[in-house]
Amino acid sequence: MPYIIGLHSAASAFLSAGFATHFSVAVVICLVIVLATASPEDGDEAPKSLPGPPFLSIIPFFRQRYDFLNWGFHVTGQPTFQFKLMNNTVIVLSGASARRAFFYAKGFDLTEGFKILSGAIPMNAPLSDLIPAILKDSRRILESYGTSGTFDPFEKIYELIFQTTVRSLSSSEISDDAALVSRLKTLYDRLDTGTTPATVLVPWFPTPAMIKKLWATKEIYDIVVRAINAREQSGISRNDTLQMLVDSGDEKLVIVGFIMGLLIAGARATGTTASWIITFLGGHADWRYKAKTEVESLLTAYSDAATSELSSRLAGIPLEIWESQTPILDAIIRETLRVAQPHTAMRRNLGPEVYINDKLIPSGAYVVYPFSDVHLDPEIYPEPWCFDPSRKPSNSNIDLPYVGWGVGSTTCLGTRLAKVELKLTMALFLLAFDFVLVDKSGDVPASPPKPNWNDILQCRPPHGSCFVKYTRTPLAL
Ligand code: HEM
Repeated sequence: MPYIIGLHSAASAFLSAGFATHFSVAVVICLVIVLATASPEDGDEAPKSLPGPPFLSIIPFFRQRYDFLNWGFHVTGQPTFQFKLMNNTVIVLSGASARRAFFYAKGFDLTEGFKILSGAIPMNAPLSDLIPAILKDSRRILESYGTSGTFDPFEKIYELIFQTTVRSLSSSEISDDAALVSRLKTLYDRLDTGTTPATVLVPWFPTPAMIKKLWATKEIYDIVVRAINAREQSGISRNDTLQMLVDSGDEKLVIVGFIMGLLIAGARATGTTASWIITFLGGHADWRYKAKTEVESLLTAYSDAATSELSSRLAGIPLEIWESQTPILDAIIRETLRVAQPHTAMRRNLGPEVYINDKLIPSGAYVVYPFSDVHLDPEIYPEPWCFDPSRKPSNSNIDLPYVGWGVGSTTCLGTRLAKVELKLTMALFLLAFDFVLVDKSGDVPASPPKPNWNDILQCRPPHGSCFVKYTRTPLAL
C-alpha cells in the first residue's frame, strides 16, 4: 500500500497549504485548461458548437445538466450540437431518428465490461430464491419505523433499497451486517457524488474530491476482499452472487470488480426509482389504492392465508406471478422511470465516422443522448411532468417512444432483478402502512413535487420539501 500512503500525505500537505499555494495552483490549472481547449471550428458537416469559451461548459454539464443541454439546443437552434470537455468532443443528439441511430450504431461503445457481468446477475432460480431474503430485509427495516411518523423518502426508501440490492448482488457476510451495509452506502454515496468538474478537468491532480473517491474505492475493495476471505476460510457454500463468482474460479480481483460494478450499476437507479414510487403513490390516492388492491388480490390467490405475517405471505407468491400478473405495479414502475429517471446515455464512437441528423460524428467523439428528449417531450407525453401510469405515447407511430431500460445493443441487464425488488418492497410497504405525502408544514400538497432532472443521481426535489407521513396497519409484518 505504499502508493496510497504517499498520496495521502501529499494530499494532506496540499490541503493544509496556505492560500498562496492554492491560488498559484489554481492559476496554473486555468492556463492549462484554456490552452488545452481551443474553440472547435465548425465546418458545414460538423454539429454547431456552443458559443463562448469551451471550458465554461464543464461545470454546468455536471451541476445543471438538464438545463445546460436544453440551453444548448436552444442557443444553437439545432437538434445536434457539440461542446468540448477538455480535449474531448461531446456531441449531443435529439429527435427520433437520432435516437434510433444512437442506440443501434455499431461503433458506439458503452464499455464491453458490463456485458461479462451478466452471468453474475441473479435470474430465474437464484432470483426466485432471493424473494424471501429481500422480504426479510425489508421487514427488519420497516419494523424499525415504529407505529407512526414521517420520513424523507429520498433518505429512507433509498436506504431500504440499498440493503436489498446489497443482499441481491453481493454476499451474506456483507448483507447480514447492517452496520457494514450502512458503511458501504456512505462509501457509494461518496463515489456517486465524487465526480466533480475538477475530477474531470484535472484527473491527474489530487483534488480533495479525487482523494475522497480514491479512498472510498479502496475501502469498498477491502470490505469485499474481507468477505471473500471469510467465505474461503469458512469452507461453507452459500446461495449468493459471491458464491457464484467463487465457484466459477475467477481471480479475487475480478470478483471484487464484478461486485463493485454490479452495485454501482444497480443500487442508485433502483433506489431512486423506489424513492419516487413511494413519493408519487403518497401524492396519488387513486394509484395507491389500485396498487394496494392488486397486491391484496395476489395474496388472496397465491399465498397461504393460514400464515399471518405479511412478509412470509408475500414470499409465497411465485416469481412468475410477480413478473407477469402485476399490470398496475408494472405501469407505476414504467411511468416513474419516464418522469423521474434523469439518465443521459453516453457512448464513444469507436469508428467508423457516421452521420446523424446530417451531422458528422467523427471517430473518437463522445456522443450523448438525454432521456429527457423522449420521456419529457410534450408531443409524445402531453403534460409530461404529470405522473399518470395509465398513459400511452400520444401516437403509435413514434419510433422508440420509451427507453427507460435502454434499447438496442445496450439494455439493462438488471431489469428483472430491479423490477422484482421494487415490487416486493412496494407491496410490503403498501400493506404495512397507511401513508400520504406531506410538505414541510405537514400539509398534503396539491401535487407531488416536480422531479429535478438537474440532479443526475436522484432527480431529488429541494431537501426538506416533501415527506411521507405513515401509520402502521394492524397486519403483522
Ligand atoms: C430501476 C433500476 C434500474 C434502471 C432504471 C436501469 C436502467 C438502465 C439503463 C437505461 C441502461 C442502459 C444505459 C444506456 O443505454 O446508456 C442500463 C444498463 C445496465 N444496467 Fe441497469 N437499471 C436499473 C437497475 C439495474 C440493476 C439492479 C443492475 C444490476 C444487476 C443493472 C445492471 C445494468 C448493466 C450491467 C447495464 C449495462 C448493460 C450493457 O452494457 O449492455 N441495472 N440500466
